Amino acid sequence: MSNEFYAPGEQRAAKVNDLFARIARRYDFLNDLQSFGLHRSWKRRVARLAGVTPGARALDLCCGTGDIAFALARRGAATTGLDFSPQMLEVANGRSRQLAAGRQPQFVQGDAQQLPFPNHTFDVVTIGYGLRNLTSWERGVDEMFRVARPGARLIVLDFGKPLNAWWRAVYFAHLRLSVPLIGLLFCGNASAYAYILESLKHYPAQFAVAEKMRALKLKNVRVINLLGGAMAINYGEKPR
Ligand SMILES: C[S@@+](CC[C@H](N)C(=O)[O-])C[C@H]1O[C@@H](n2cnc3c(N)ncnc32)[C@H](O)[C@@H]1O
Repeated sequence: MSNEFYAPGEQRAAKVNDLFARIARRYDFLNDLQSFGLHRSWKRRVARLAGVTPGARALDLCCGTGDIAFALARRGAATTGLDFSPQMLEVANGRSRQLAAGRQPQFVQGDAQQLPFPNHTFDVVTIGYGLRNLTSWERGVDEMFRVARPGARLIVLDFGKPLNAWWRAVYFAHLRLSVPLIGLLFCGNASAYAYILESLKHYPAQFAVAEKMRALKLKNVRVINLLGGAMAINYGEKPR
């Protein structure tokens, strides 16, 4: 079944932008509802894995309303969050204004596939629930690699594909039925949430991301499966 927010190829970005413009105000609330609040602990895990020390430079791509960027900034990193949606960035900036100066990430509008930063700039580059939305996820990883300093950590958090067939069927049924229903009831938009499954079908997920990291010769490449692979974190370090 097709989805109004999923388009292959070059039309992809406009559709994704439209989707997040529509749901930006409810995004955080719906995230809590759909994941039973678990996304918070997965994002904290990303921030722990980032291992930032005060003064480190961190970049969070597809930052949305800023959860991961805030977590990195709280740990003392000079953090930049990048997203192409003005509406999501508006929410992120609103949250940022509640924080003490010095703890505030800098939010920048831009395309994760064409980053406005020089090579070898950041000590950590993260992306949460973003790679799956890009026209080319490989290009996204290439850009993460390009702007990372030698020794930097690259971390990807996204929906995964469980290897166990039974669990995958249950989980996909949840994405097909309950997630759009929650979207309809609380956001008035089932299609925006049906998009998650549609985008996941076209995304090769955690094991392909690990392959790509190995192809880039990253060190200590790891896949951390969460909830039996329904979610996953990919980790790798740029060689020195
Ligand atoms: C599902 S949200 C994730 C937000 C946040 N990282 C989180 O985990 O809550 C995906 C975000 O990716 C952004 N996005 C999608 N494609 C993008 C692109 N090509 N460049 C920059 N941001 C993009 C969207 O605007 C949206 O804010």
